[in-house]
Amino acid sequence: MSYDHLIVETEGRVGIVTLHRPAARNALSTPLVNELGAALEAFEQDPAIGAIVLTGGDQVFAAGADIKELQEAGFVDIFLADFPHGRAAAWKRMATLRKPVIAAVAGFALGGGCELAMACDFILAADTAVFGQPEVLLGTMPGAGGTQRLARVVGKSKAMEMCLTGRRMDAQEAERAGLVSRVVPVAELRAEAVKAAATIAALSLPAVMMIKESVNAAYETPLAEGLRLERRAFQSTFATEDRREGMAAFAAKRKPEFKGR
Ligand code: CAA
Repeated sequence: MSYDHLIVETEGRVGIVTLHRPAARNALSTPLVNELGAALEAFEQDPAIGAIVLTGGDQVFAAGADIKELQEAGFVDIFLADFPHGRAAAWKRMATLRKPVIAAVAGFALGGGCELAMACDFILAADTAVFGQPEVLLGTMPGAGGTQRLARVVGKSKAMEMCLTGRRMDAQEAERAGLVSRVVPVAELRAEAVKAAATIAALSLPAVMMIKESVNAAYETPLAEGLRLERRAFQSTFATEDRREGMAAFAAKRKPEFKGR
């Protein structure tokens, strides 16, 4: 499939999706979001891919929803389309992807852009990254997880301040607040993200998927239920060939060869 607003590549077992609408600062228009859904779905279904990197390149991650597209919309339009959740498969699909997705953020990740990065499994930030939920400055509010995911990650005070005032957070503050896993020089962002994704993609895919599911459960279930889910998932790794191989390789002092079985 060819894409107008994305660059879609692979490096080994890593799928890389680059948002590519530079003239509009990668604003998340409906065509772009539809393409993103299709690209993520293709990588999710591809057995040759073990992990995904989502980036906007080295200038900007994404400036949010396409304001010009939304400008004339009324409540009924937005409600019937269930915007942004129902607009395109991508937002819904992000939440159900089983393969890990790393957001590699350089420059602005604002509004829906910040929400898109937060919908990924972790965020690697360039030293140029800037995060914000400026919707209030437009007379609206975050609608794709900004009030929910940001509050869970950075806590109430920072989330409230950012959502209520539109104040932006730079990469260093985002790292201190736990929004990003680490900050790297912008020139190294893509390579670092692909390296992390390649590390994951070389591991046991069933184990990786179970870990992702378990960590996500920490945000959605009471502790006792999350611990039970984790324990069952851990126990079920003892049914995989990869778990046997991993422990045998450790005992034999050799590198494991995981097959994803
Ligand atoms: N939607 C549509 N077009 C956008 C856009 C957006 N979100 N962000 C930037 N653009 C366009 C600009 O209109 C401009 O187009 P023209 O050249 O045709 O005039 C072009 O991209 C370049 O923009 P700037 O000149 O503003 O570029 P800059 O580098 O000076 O500033 C920026 C970059 C800080 C990202 C600034 O463009 C900006 O503040 N954008 C809006 C950010 C925003 O408010 N996002 C929230 C959107 S609402 C939302 O996301 C709802 C939700 O939760 C689902």
